[in-house]
Amino acid sequence: MELKDFIRKIPKAELHLHIEGTFEPELMFEIAKRNGVKLKYNSVDELREAYKFGNLQDFLDIYYAGTNSLQTKQDFYDLTWSYLKKANGQNIIHTEIMFDPQAHTGRGIPFSTVIEGIKEALDDAAKEFGITSNLIMSFLRHLDERSAFETLEMSKDYKEWITAVGLDSSEVGHPPSKFKNVFAESKKEGFKICAHAGEEGPPEYVWEALEILSVDRIDHGNRSLEDEKLVEVLADKKIPLTVCPLSNVKLRNVDKIENHPIKKMLDKGLKATVNSDDPAYFGGYVNENFEAVAGALNLNENDIVTLVKNSFEASFLDKNKKDKIINGLDAFKL
Ligand code: HPA
Ligand code: ZN
Repeated sequence: MELKDFIRKIPKAELHLHIEGTFEPELMFEIAKRNGVKLKYNSVDELREAYKFGNLQDFLDIYYAGTNSLQTKQDFYDLTWSYLKKANGQNIIHTEIMFDPQAHTGRGIPFSTVIEGIKEALDDAAKEFGITSNLIMSFLRHLDERSAFETLEMSKDYKEWITAVGLDSSEVGHPPSKFKNVFAESKKEGFKICAHAGEEGPPEYVWEALEILSVDRIDHGNRSLEDEKLVEVLADKKIPLTVCPLSNVKLRNVDKIENHPIKKMLDKGLKATVNSDDPAYFGGYVNENFEAVAGALNLNENDIVTLVKNSFEASFLDKNKKDKIINGLDAFKL
């Protein structure tokens, strides 16, 4: 089997996906039109043309502007459903989706509108495609800890729909320690803990995510490789890294895909996984991310199976379900 077919066919999990980052220009225009929102761009092509980023902040400015046309529960349903259809087409059987409540509540959209639209699509995908999912509520780190606490408070009515809390947005200048108290409270509430760290920020931010937030997973984590001791601890504790190759190139954290560190991560014993981050903006969903690193780094079927197994192991699925899927993957290999 060609490696590309192997990648397409193997059942996969996705663990690092911002639902707002799946907003394809075509759908954005459609939703903007029905809500009477005027976009800054005149056409889908013009909008796509703007997707050239010098760094994370360049991207975030466009990403937050893009969310403005999302207003009703139906909008959040359509956004999520369109990702799930895509995921199903790529043989993703389990997905853990981040959403940014503050990007919406900050412009007057109720928390309930956002989460109810997303959740209904997740339930429909479970019924129609058999895709299982978990939701990760991410706090925006460029805002203050009080705003994160308010968001945690709003989420309490929907606690059973949310598996984990996360930390995203502008990294440099906003270390994990800024959110020490709200993560402690979230942990007490029973949420799993994720945080973006080491995407643009230094290895110290990954240490803080580990030691101060007690994370279950690190999102990105690339810059951990600059600190040998940190690599040792991450490997020892089996802390997964949710790596996003095309995102890293698009946001210029890696100069070209041939220099992507994911193989190095595996060689150092790190539990690296492959994910798409914001696929509408970065040029590909999970399969395209696998294909990009497989081609550039000469990965073989065994490497792909390792990465896919890592994703299921790193997921928040319960142990029985994980074991069952992972055993099935061994059969797939033959
Ligand atoms: N990094 C930080 N925040 C984000 C990202 C990202 O890649 N995507 C959406 N919010
Ligand atoms: Zn991300």
